[in-house]
Amino acid sequence: MNKLKIAIQKSGRLSEKSLGILEECGIKVSNGTGVLRTIASNFPLEVLFLRDDDIPQYVEQQVVDIGIVGENIVMEKKKCVDVIYRLGFGNCRLSLAILNDDEYTGPSYFEGKKIATSYPNLLKDYLSGKGITAEIEEISGSVEIAPGIGLSDAICDIVSSGSTLLKNGLKEAETILTSEAVIIGNRNLPAGKREILEKMLFRIRAVKNASENKYILLNTPDSAIGRICEILPGMKSPTILPLAMKGWSSMHSVVKEDEFWERIELLKAAGAEGILVIPIEKMIL
Ligand code: PRP
Ligand code: ZN
Repeated sequence: MNKLKIAIQKSGRLSEKSLGILEECGIKVSNGTGVLRTIASNFPLEVLFLRDDDIPQYVEQQVVDIGIVGENIVMEKKKCVDVIYRLGFGNCRLSLAILNDDEYTGPSYFEGKKIATSYPNLLKDYLSGKGITAEIEEISGSVEIAPGIGLSDAICDIVSSGSTLLKNGLKEAETILTSEAVIIGNRNLPAGKREILEKMLFRIRAVKNASENKYILLNTPDSAIGRICEILPGMKSPTILPLAMKGWSSMHSVVKEDEFWERIELLKAAGAEGILVIPIEKMIL
């Protein structure tokens, strides 16, 4: 049977959340320790656990059909792949950092300096955009150690919480770009695989919509229904059910997580009472 092949990070910042998104989509994947390849038991998906740095290349070569990887790596590797979907997790930035004790004087600080990085292409682009000449020391990991051991004057690496910089006596000087986890895909997926991908994306969207919205129930005097409909437009329009008490109704709707507190204030001011807010598990628009 036709299966879609997906690559996810073997171990690192995105591993757990990448598996988590499959799980939330109801796709069952068992990954015992040391297993680098597995098949979902209830969805036509084969999962390969790879080094994140290799994922864009494998997607381009169609060793795998799609992959979950940081956009930072997609941009660095410059492979011919499509960014299909932005996942909204794994947020980080690619930054230049210097030793805590050094005084930062602006981008010209890096003129003539030696910078260690696993992102030589992006760093090169940044430096040439600023007209700065610096020496790039390419290393594949533990970049933050470089200034402390005299390998370089500065680094250019991924910062997420900032704790790795802190632990290594470094401070952020410039942000080159911001990034998040994305789904990338091969440009020539055959129709059968594209169909499976669409099914998966449908589920991912439902999970993401659900996490961005809340279900809301409230009681309102009938006289306030009009005003509350304006505050809570809902997916189509709110559900209104009469209460046993005359002149009162119950209203049900959906509200966006990021507009939530502001709307609650307005609802209270309009006369709503007994407001209940419930998480949504899946939301299909
Ligand atoms: C990055 C970077 C740091 C760490 C920073 O690695 O190289 O080690 O994350 O995170 P923090 O600011 O939360 O401390 P990444 O996850 O990109 O993995 P890699 O080993 O594949 O480069
Ligand atoms: Zn990596």
